[in-house]
Amino acid sequence: MKRLIEIILCSTLILCLAGCGSSVPAVESSETSIVAQTTGTSESESESTVVTETEASTENVTGSSTLVVYFSATGTTKGKAEYIAEITGADLYEITAAVPYTDEDRDWTDSDSRCSIEQNDPSARPEISSEAVSLDDYTTVYIGYPIWFGQEPRIMDTFVESCDFEGITVIPFCTSGSSGIGQSAQNLASNAGSGNWLEGKRFAGDASEEEIKEWVDSIMVEMVLTINGTEVPVIWEDNDSVKELARIADNGLTIEMSMYGGFEQVGPIGQSVTSNDEQTTTVPGDIMLYSGDQIVIFYGSNTWAYTSLGKIDLPEQEITDLLSNGDVKISIAVR
Ligand SMILES: Cc1cc2nc3c(=O)[nH]c(=O)nc-3n(C[C@H](O)[C@H](O)[C@H](O)COP(=O)(O)O)c2cc1C
Repeated sequence: MKRLIEIILCSTLILCLAGCGSSVPAVESSETSIVAQTTGTSESESESTVVTETEASTENVTGSSTLVVYFSATGTTKGKAEYIAEITGADLYEITAAVPYTDEDRDWTDSDSRCSIEQNDPSARPEISSEAVSLDDYTTVYIGYPIWFGQEPRIMDTFVESCDFEGITVIPFCTSGSSGIGQSAQNLASNAGSGNWLEGKRFAGDASEEEIKEWVDSIMVEMVLTINGTEVPVIWEDNDSVKELARIADNGLTIEMSMYGGFEQVGPIGQSVTSNDEQTTTVPGDIMLYSGDQIVIFYGSNTWAYTSLGKIDLPEQEITDLLSNGDVKISIAVR
């Protein structure tokens, strides 16, 4: 009976992998020994921030509050992980196996192969060779892996059991020939025993960057605005500028604002954000992106080309009291 199930699984795999034009052994192995590196920009732009092997560190060297952890035997998940790290400005950490998985090990047609044996044994915990990473400074951890026989590779269980995810939002993702994420994310969450685990997402090997970005953008985050230390309710726009601002704010964003023109507070974001300016006559409470890299919060009215970011949801008098009595310091955070 067991043999029959294996034959059915293997046949399904052959069909699935052929169907998406990918074959497991055809992809170069990525089992090298990167331990941790920083990203945030494309490879060419980020040369100076990449931690090389000799200076590899398990410390949070960038100050980013997001970490992308991944295991990838043949490079597919690695590519997705690198892209997620690039668009979220996250650090990147690769889980590597102390005993690397060879082509023979990964032979899913052989019921005696290492992968077959490990995946048939829920208690198997392959050893990790990458240096342990400290999650202390991270609030969000993406965790990526390939699907092996419908499950997470056991080495992922080794990893999650070695970590304390308390207070951390954990976002699982996986790649596969055709299988869904199945129970793998729940298994990881239950083996981890801590952390706020969000619903996971499966990507095909050829998933586009657009698909990945859409998913990252769709993950619900709550963005909080404080003015001089007081949290104020905001109705944020659902647009690309706000999504980008949320990614910047994930690393903490504090802006010294200046009163200007008797109707607004204005201050620099410190970097450019996608804009879609439209000629607008503002009303008190409007939060606008000005010139692509400045935030303006209105307690009066002005007519100019802005991109709307949101609106403070308070009575006009409270907005005036908050903003019209001298320069303010605002902070935007994600939780
Ligand atoms: C041992 C093994 C088992 C696999 N089992 C499945 C499976 O059950 N379903 C599936 O759709 N793909 C399966 N695959 C294909 C991988 O999930 C897929 O190729 C994945 O994208 C590889 O990611 P990686 O390159 O990051 O290792 C399996 C591959 C291997 C090596």
